[in-house]
Amino acid sequence: MYKSIAAGSGGSGSSLRVHLVSEQTRRLPDSIRAHAGASEALKRPDFKREPGELVVVDKKLALVGIGPRNGLDTERFRKIGAKLVKALDRLGARKVLLDLESLTERQASETSFGRALSEGAVTANWRMDLFDGAASKQPQPRGKLTLTSTNKNFTNGLRTGITLGDGMNFARKLAATPPNVCTPTYVAQVARSVARQHEDLTCSVITYQQARRLGMGGLENVGKGSASKPCMVVLEWKPAKTVTKERLALVGKTITYDTGGYSLKTGGGMRGMKYDKNGGMAVLGAMKAIAESKLPMRVVALLPAAENMVSSESYRPDDIITMYNGITVEVTNTDAEGRLVLADALSYACRKYKPSAIVDMATLTGGVVVALGSFCSGYWCEDSTLRGRLERAATSSDERIWRLPLWQDHRDFMRSQHADILNSNPRREAHPIQGAAFLSYFVDENVPWAHVDIAGTSSRESGNDMMPPGPTGWGVRLLYDLAGSYVS
Ligand code: BES
Ligand code: ZN
Ligand code: ZN
Repeated sequence: MYKSIAAGSGGSGSSLRVHLVSEQTRRLPDSIRAHAGASEALKRPDFKREPGELVVVDKKLALVGIGPRNGLDTERFRKIGAKLVKALDRLGARKVLLDLESLTERQASETSFGRALSEGAVTANWRMDLFDGAASKQPQPRGKLTLTSTNKNFTNGLRTGITLGDGMNFARKLAATPPNVCTPTYVAQVARSVARQHEDLTCSVITYQQARRLGMGGLENVGKGSASKPCMVVLEWKPAKTVTKERLALVGKTITYDTGGYSLKTGGGMRGMKYDKNGGMAVLGAMKAIAESKLPMRVVALLPAAENMVSSESYRPDDIITMYNGITVEVTNTDAEGRLVLADALSYACRKYKPSAIVDMATLTGGVVVALGSFCSGYWCEDSTLRGRLERAATSSDERIWRLPLWQDHRDFMRSQHADILNSNPRREAHPIQGAAFLSYFVDENVPWAHVDIAGTSSRESGNDMMPPGPTGWGVRLLYDLAGSYVS
C-alpha cells in the first residue's frame, strides 16, 4: 500500500521505467533494448503479457503486459493500473515512468487510457483501515508513488484519473464508515472539511429545526425517530472562472442507516444498510473531484441526511405528511424512506437554485437489483438532451446505466385516496419505477431531471482484481463526466 499516488512530470534519475508491451510486441525500441536483458525478458515463456503482468529486467527497467492489441480499451487500462500498482508495491518502486513507445498510433485514446490506468491504480491501492484495531497487523504504508509517462496526453490523463480515484476512495471510506460513527451530523462535518480544503467550494447545513421550519416534511419525518437528527448538507461550487451559464444540481440519498423503520427490514435485509448513504457519498466524491480539477461551471450538491430508525418518535405507516413543495404524502411503507428525503431536496434545489439540470443518485430500491443486478445502474430521464449527456458520460466513465420507462400511468399509480400521493403502492408492481414516479412530483416541470438508482452498483458482495467486496464508489466518475460535458 502506498500512502498516496501522484502524477509527476519528467522522469528523474532514480525512476523505474516501465515499458508497455502488448501480446503482439515482437521487438523493443532501441532505447529499451540498450538495457542488457530487455530482449530476453520479452521472450521469457512465462511472461504472458497479460494486462498488468510485470517482469523486472533490472533496477531501472521493467516490462508490463497490456494483453492483445485487439480490444484494448479503458476498462483494460483500469485493470492494468490495478495489477501494476500491486506489483510496484512489492518491488518497492517510488517513481515510475510509463513508457508508451510501442503504442504511439493510439493517439486519440491517450488521455482516457492514462486516466483509466491511474483510476485502477488508485482504487486498487485503497483499503478500509479506519477501524483496524488491536488484532490487526498495521502494515507500514510505503509513502508516495509518483507516476509519469513518456506521453504528455497520457500523463494529463494520469492526473485526472488520480483525482477521480481519490474521489472514489473518499466516497468508499465514508460509505464503509459504520452507522454508529457516520451519523447525519458526521456527514455534515466531513462535507464542511471538504469545503475548507477547496477555494470556491462552500458548505452550509440546514439543521433539523430549520428543515422543520422550511416545511421539509419528508426529511423531518424520516429522520425524527433517531437520536441523531437529520439535516440537509448543501455544497456549492462557485468558481471564479466559468465558461457556461448553466448550473448543475446533484442530489444524493444519504440515509446513514436504513432499518426500514416500523416497516422493519428482516435481519438479512438490514445487513449492509450502512451503504444506504452511497448516493450522497458518490455526489460528495464527485464534488471533491470537480473542485480539485477546478471545473469552470457552477454545481450545487444537496445531501438529505437521515437515519431511518424505530422509536416512539418515529413516523409510521398511515401517517400523512406534507412535503416542502406542499404535496401531501400518505406513508404506506416507512421503508420507502429514500424518496421522501430526496423529494424535499429536489424541490428545494429547484426553488432555490433554478438549475439547468438536476440529477439524483440513490440506493433506492431492491427491485432495481433484481432487474439489473450489479452490471449497471437503472436510470430515468424524460429529457433527451440530458439523456444524451448521461449516456455519453456513462460511456466515457465505464459506469454503465440503463434507462427504464416513466409514463403518466406510473405517476397515476402513485395517487392516494386520502392524500395527494402514496410513498409506495401496496400493490408490489414495478417498484424501481414507482420510486422514479414518486420523485417526479417534486421536480419543476421545466427542469431536465434524471434519477439514477444505484442500489445494485454502489456496493458489492464479492471482489475481483480491481475491487474487494464492499463499497465501489460507483457514480463519482459518471457525475464528474456529466459535469464535464457542459464545459467541453
Ligand atoms: N435502501 C432500500 C433499498 C435497497 C435495498 C438498497 C437493497 C440496497 C439493497 C430502500 O430504502 C428500500 O427499502 N426500498 C424498498 C422499497 C419498498 C418498501 C417500496 C424496497 O426496495 O424493497
Ligand atoms: Zn428503506
Ligand atoms: Zn433506503
